[in-house]
Amino acid sequence: MYGSLRQLLFRLPPETAHEVVVTSLRAGQREPFLSLLESRLQVRDPRLQTTVFDTEFPNPVGVAAGFDKNARIPRILGTLGFGHIEIGAITAEGQPGNPRPRLFRLPEDKAIINRMGFNNAGADVVADRLATTDPAVPIGANIGKTKTTPLEDAPADYLYSYEQVASDADFFVVNVSSPNTPGLRELQDREPLEAILSTLSDAGAHPLLVKLSPDLHKEAIADVVELAETVGLDGIVATNTTIRRPDSLAGDNASETGGLSGKPIADRATQTVRFVAKRTDLPVVGVGGIFTAADAYEKIRAGADLVQLYTGFIYQGPTVARDINNGLLDLLEADGFDSVGAAVGADLD
Ligand code: FNR
Repeated sequence: MYGSLRQLLFRLPPETAHEVVVTSLRAGQREPFLSLLESRLQVRDPRLQTTVFDTEFPNPVGVAAGFDKNARIPRILGTLGFGHIEIGAITAEGQPGNPRPRLFRLPEDKAIINRMGFNNAGADVVADRLATTDPAVPIGANIGKTKTTPLEDAPADYLYSYEQVASDADFFVVNVSSPNTPGLRELQDREPLEAILSTLSDAGAHPLLVKLSPDLHKEAIADVVELAETVGLDGIVATNTTIRRPDSLAGDNASETGGLSGKPIADRATQTVRFVAKRTDLPVVGVGGIFTAADAYEKIRAGADLVQLYTGFIYQGPTVARDINNGLLDLLEADGFDSVGAAVGADLD
């Protein structure tokens, strides 16, 4: 059924299609529609429940950052069967992002390129919205840097956003890995990253995670992991989008500037999950190219305690969380695991 709806949506410019979807879902955030969706799409099974960084998740499959930047639809995303929603990126000041067009589909590659540039309403507005929603699943807040804030003032910028959402989000993700804010990824270097992470940690941000770029070299990832342990972080999200362009890309939009997501980044993201999980006992959130239960399971076996998706949601449609959760139950059973937690890291040596 989503096939024909997707055909219609894919005729619209990508950002318009996204707005149509968010607006429609927003209109659907009421009873009896929510209960109907819940009964059809939520997979309730104790084997899927998992507690990660002291937070209880009904299942391991979440919505990645960027889909619901302004926290307009966390309630209905929960009823579609997702086990958590990462809203944002939010920034201290609201900002328009880059000029349109800034979102591109690569259907042949099951991929997206985006250079949105942290368009969002600002931390205050999003915090007010979060305070009046009852999402029913844990909410993560993805925090980025305001474009006009100089890199050296980044800690205060992140701190301001954190303080706005502190009481209404269940975990906090420091985003220093989006490729679309000039200089942002330099904040992954040890010194600036330490300044941001310790500022937030000292302010009581907990659970606190950092999101990695898939473009970091192994040594740089190892440095971030070590820093995460030193600062007392609660987890690592791997990964964000890539600025690389694999030779395999066939889509007309392959040469657009921005971050590539979807199928072409799946393996690289899984390798990053594995690399991180081998080096630390900190929880890992695996994200990048997950479309099916098998994709999610691969990340879990590579060491991901939770998984997230964005591009897979666009291509697979509103039943994707249900399908992945049902498929995960089959895969767990086939391998003799009695819970998703038991399968985490099964492929690590
Ligand atoms: C993103 N992503 C993202 N990540 C982040 O940390 N903050 C953000 O604001 C955004 N914004 C955003 C917008 C769009 C249009 C896309 C497609 C992606 C990255 C996203 O959360 C995820 O890390 C990557 O997309 C990889 O996962 P998928 O899409 O392959 O499942």
